[in-house]
Amino acid sequence: MMSSTALMTTDLPLPNRRQGKVRDLYDIELPDGSPGVLIVATDRISAFDVVMSNGVPGKGVLLTQISCFWFEHFAHRVTHHLVSTDPALIPGLSPAHQSMLTGRSMLCRKLDVVPIECVARGYLAGSGWKDYQSTGSVCGVALPPGLRNGDELPEPIFTPATKAVTGHDENIPFAEAAARVGEGLMTRLRDLTLQLYGLARTFAAERGILLADTKFEFGLAPGADKPVLVDEIFTPDSSRFWPADSWRPGAEQPSFDKQYVRNYLEQLVAAGKWDKTAPGPALPDEVIKSTLARYQEAHDRLTGVPI
Ligand SMILES: Nc1ncnc2c1ncn2[C@@H]1O[C@H](COP(=O)(O)OP(=O)(O)O)[C@@H](O)[C@H]1O
Ligand SMILES: [Mg+2]
Repeated sequence: MMSSTALMTTDLPLPNRRQGKVRDLYDIELPDGSPGVLIVATDRISAFDVVMSNGVPGKGVLLTQISCFWFEHFAHRVTHHLVSTDPALIPGLSPAHQSMLTGRSMLCRKLDVVPIECVARGYLAGSGWKDYQSTGSVCGVALPPGLRNGDELPEPIFTPATKAVTGHDENIPFAEAAARVGEGLMTRLRDLTLQLYGLARTFAAERGILLADTKFEFGLAPGADKPVLVDEIFTPDSSRFWPADSWRPGAEQPSFDKQYVRNYLEQLVAAGKWDKTAPGPALPDEVIKSTLARYQEAHDRLTGVPI
């Protein structure tokens, strides 16, 4: 059962806490003695790259369960960073800490994250739609004329982006990504990204979800050249999930993710009450509830197992 209070931040007796928009990370030692990270998905929610001042209770659990489901699903095709979801393997945590972490944490191999966001797009949306409108292409990939917002692309494309430490990620051409991290590695990441996207897209479509696009991060162990899937995969935070039965190209698509949040915020912006900079406003109860219901539905449809 989900708790009704949102977990906004964590303060565990573990070294080197750092906070992303949604997740808190700590350094740990894995049971085999190698360096690890504990990744805790909080209930923070971000939109337009700004974290809102209240959270969505239970979102972190749903996100973690969705990622774990996919890591396992694809384990025979790609190495991933997930080692365990059992917080009892971390020495020194109290029972209260352990119960707070259960369901929302992953013990992972600590890797050097490749500083490129690996994005696959099967439909035109978001920054892809914006780029297409101004250049007719996305990340240097030329597309046929006359496409509408939300249209399916003739075939999925790979559109890398920089991994900005602060601010917004920026779409870059493949050649630029290759120049930054090496052509051999980038080619491998592109092929993996498109392969996994293609498989997940078919899987999701069979469950009534259009997987419009997705983003992966990859890591490398020191001295190794085999890429490992890190971070989160195929969650509503890293991907666009659209309900298949309401897909109507030519406009913004309703989605399983933060649509309610974005719509609400756009209203605030239009009314001059928020300017898309931090700190984010508090979301009303209704928006929180609808958002959680969407994450829940995405989880249940994909995994087939309601939480
Ligand atoms: N296995 C790993 N080793 C090291 N860093 C990781 C690993 N998996 C994920 N990360 C990093 O953890 C962070 C996850 O936190 P998140 O809240 O998603 O951050 P962001 O605001 O950058 O999206 C990201 O910076 C990601 O690159
Ligand atoms: Mg992230």
